[in-house]
Amino acid sequence: MKALLLAGGLGTRLRPLTEHLPKPMAPVMDRPWLEHLIEHLRRQGIDEFVIAVKHHAGVIERRLGDGRRLGVRITYSREPGLLGTAGAIKHAEPLLSERFLVLNADIIHLTRLVPLLEFHRNTGAQVTIGLTEVDDPSQYGVVEQTWDGRILRFVEKPPRALAPSRRVNAGIYVMEKEVLRHIPAGREVSIERETFPHLIQSGVPVYGAPVEGYWLDMGTLGRYLGLHRDVLDGRIRLPWMPTPKRPGIWIGENAQIHPTARLEPPVWVGAGARIGAGCVVGPYGVVGAGAELLSHTQISNAVVLPRTQASGITAIGNAIVGPDFHAALQPVGAAQNEGVLQH
Ligand code: GTP
Repeated sequence: MKALLLAGGLGTRLRPLTEHLPKPMAPVMDRPWLEHLIEHLRRQGIDEFVIAVKHHAGVIERRLGDGRRLGVRITYSREPGLLGTAGAIKHAEPLLSERFLVLNADIIHLTRLVPLLEFHRNTGAQVTIGLTEVDDPSQYGVVEQTWDGRILRFVEKPPRALAPSRRVNAGIYVMEKEVLRHIPAGREVSIERETFPHLIQSGVPVYGAPVEGYWLDMGTLGRYLGLHRDVLDGRIRLPWMPTPKRPGIWIGENAQIHPTARLEPPVWVGAGARIGAGCVVGPYGVVGAGAELLSHTQISNAVVLPRTQASGITAIGNAIVGPDFHAALQPVGAAQNEGVLQH
């Protein structure tokens, strides 16, 4: 069975990170998230992928190529224009198997897929939607189901007290190819807003089954930063997470740390990164591979992206620092809005 990874969206909520990168290629502990995801799926026996690309497609194609480096086979479905989540699946139709998996490539999870596939087989569903439980359903489209998991309807952003459940679409689906005849070709179609409600109304068997474990939509800068905190805290264990040098302290190969610099766990210093004299990194500091902190820079609760040089910054809190931008999410003494302060 093939897995189709949706990776072509604009990622507007993750700008400026996504000005030069597709969202699923955002680095997480020095590897694009998409590579962590493919490795996770490979370990579950999935080795054939179709990646639906559009926004900065070349970044994905150049890095992943035909997949050989990752031990998998990858083909690309290139879209002429933005087609939306269902339009992208329709466009990839000639490349898909009779039954296939679809994953939003910007969702962070390391879910075991076998139970979802078994559920799909046992119910005879045409589509099975992986469901995750959220604390506050008022931000999401919540599902109402029968006792055996068939989805009756989606309730969009219900007030907490009126929500029929706390289960929401996790962005992971098992689909039968024949269902694609319900998706119009050649225009933008949203799977959440258009296709699923249409299928349910038309009586097509659409089921939902829980997916276990950590789940995060990394769509905003705040959540992207939160993801790094969760990784450092061990709330999610990435397929390519090395063992720390000391508890809570990861130091990559050939990283140089000045003897007067201080690392306060949890902290990640990527391969080849340089931490100058008197710097303080952490707690919750991530310095990407090849990045450089010049003397007396202090960072905590912050991500310095790979190959970034940062200097003269003290006590960055809640920030992402990149070669081209500095996004402070809650700068001390400034407005609490998420956003980019300075390019
Ligand atoms: P925002 O602009 O911030 O809403 O992000 P987005 O549109 O990139 O992502 P959204 O969360 O809406 O989409 C979920 C997943 O589907 C992401 O992995 C996107 O990359 C992907 N996606 C969204 N639209 C398209 C599309 O038109 N084509 C393809 N191939 N993928 C898409």
